[in-house]
Amino acid sequence: MEQADLIWHNGELVAWEDAKVHVLTHGLHYGTGVFEGERAYETPGGTGIFRHRDHLERLFKSAELYYMPIPYTLEELRTATHELIAANGLSECYIRPIAFRGYGQMGLYPLDCEVDVVIAVWPWGAYLGEEGKRRGVRAKVSSWRRIPHDALIPHAKACGQYLNSVLAKVEASKAGYEEAILLDSHGFVCEGSGENVYVVREGQVVTPPQTAAILDGINRKSIIQIARDLGLEVVERDLARAELYLADELFLSGTAAELVPVREIDDHAIGGGEPGPVTRELQRVFDDALHGRDPRYADWLDLVEAPSAQTARLAEPA
Ligand SMILES: Cc1ncc(COP(=O)(O)O)c(C=O)c1O
Repeated sequence: MEQADLIWHNGELVAWEDAKVHVLTHGLHYGTGVFEGERAYETPGGTGIFRHRDHLERLFKSAELYYMPIPYTLEELRTATHELIAANGLSECYIRPIAFRGYGQMGLYPLDCEVDVVIAVWPWGAYLGEEGKRRGVRAKVSSWRRIPHDALIPHAKACGQYLNSVLAKVEASKAGYEEAILLDSHGFVCEGSGENVYVVREGQVVTPPQTAAILDGINRKSIIQIARDLGLEVVERDLARAELYLADELFLSGTAAELVPVREIDDHAIGGGEPGPVTRELQRVFDDALHGRDPRYADWLDLVEAPSAQTARLAEPA
């Protein structure tokens, strides 16, 4: 992975290689952490973080669901992110805030364990590749089911939960596909290993509802709004597996991947194996929104302000 110079670690900016935790960190053993994935883009007004407040709100909600008080306010983390991006001199980057149970307690009762917070930023290109964004990816329905509501909390972005995505991603990749689509235990479509999924059929955009075992993606909200603004009908309802094969168009959305067409699913070519017109149009407007080229969506960008050095300071080298 590409590196940056500095990482924000519990309120201090430390050198990338010095941002370390103890091997007995609780979150490392039991997955007791919550995180976000965000992106900042170069825009005509400067570097803009896409839907920053929405991401931070989801971070705090995920933490709350796992009884984890984050020892900073949302505003402090927002400012810290601005300072970190500026201190690293990045105009575009991926952003990874994470809050996790730290060192000091073992065992499955985590509530007496300290909560550590880290924010890292680094340059990260298209997660499923530039070619994937352009031509579409090949996906496979996973044999692994998406974590259900009665075992974990699909709507939380929590560290341990991602073992489910890891199994699906490894399985798909070993079988020669770029991405996995997970179903629930009734056979309904949930999502990709790190993306929400959409079918376009007979002019309608269909995506699984919030009651499905999905992460309620921030890009999902954005794409639903853009699609409606383009006059498309968007329906949130359960999707049967076969509807993936019968789709005129199929695509994924997520912060890391952005909007990516799926050109093949389980070896069925979708739309003749080429991204279709609805996907292309949504991708174009979405890309304009991300890069601050569409005034309708200007509010979605949190422009990075010059560092104030109020909430973070450069730690002395150890
Ligand atoms: C499992 C899962 N579903 C969906 C998404 C898409 O969410 P978002 O659009 O907020 O990045 C992600 C990415 O974070 C994810 O990990």
